[in-house]
Amino acid sequence: MKTKILGLFLFSAFLFMNSCTEEDEAVPPVATATPSAQTISSGTATSIALTSSVAGTTFSWTVTQAGVSGATAGSGLNIAQTLTATGAVAGTVTYTIIPTANGVSGTALNVTVTVNPVIVKITYNANIKPLLVNSCTPCHVTGGSNPNKFDIYATAKSKINVIIDRVERETTAAGFMPKGGSKLSAANIALLKKWVDDGLLEN
Ligand code: HEC
Repeated sequence: MKTKILGLFLFSAFLFMNSCTEEDEAVPPVATATPSAQTISSGTATSIALTSSVAGTTFSWTVTQAGVSGATAGSGLNIAQTLTATGAVAGTVTYTIIPTANGVSGTALNVTVTVNPVIVKITYNANIKPLLVNSCTPCHVTGGSNPNKFDIYATAKSKINVIIDRVERETTAAGFMPKGGSKLSAANIALLKKWVDDGLLEN
């Protein structure tokens, strides 16, 4: 009888201790990201602080990126990575963050970062002058036969609508420019139009 009682006591004590230990280890940490989503400009860094419901939590993350480069899997209390938009439109990175405390991992948290491309404006000196001098020489440059000198900013600017009209004509149509040459590429014609949209900047 005595042995039976002792046995029951020990068994209960074992269950009790076991349940205590299991409960201690079983609390999964809940991760919070501040901010919960972020929008940055291409070439700048993310700044996302990671905190948890359980003290001493560590965080590791994996990445999925579309139209962005620079995001890498890692670990720490802060996601600070310099991201670059690889195209003309915004890209995104999703960080999937796993919090771990006392050997137990919590639910994964997703944080999405939007990376806006840096808008580069078309300028006369950087884009338009090289294009016109290259395509319209020897006639429309200083010293050339034509009175309209496109190597002069003021002239190119005042004539831009006529320039676009002429380069968009069929190669066989009267007044097609460059006279006697081949049609400008669609990309170069788009560049002339974007110069107008961007405000006909000189520099
Ligand atoms: C081989 C010489 C030659 C080349 C190269 C040439 N042009 Fe011309 N361009 C002319 C001549 C000649 C005229 C005048 C006759 C006319 O209006 O069609 C003219 C007229 C123009 C006019 C009309 C100007 C106005 O005041 O109405 C524009 C605009 C023009 N060219 C743009 C261009 C552009 C842009 C290029 C280069 C992509 C180019 N041209 C290349 C000879 C040339």
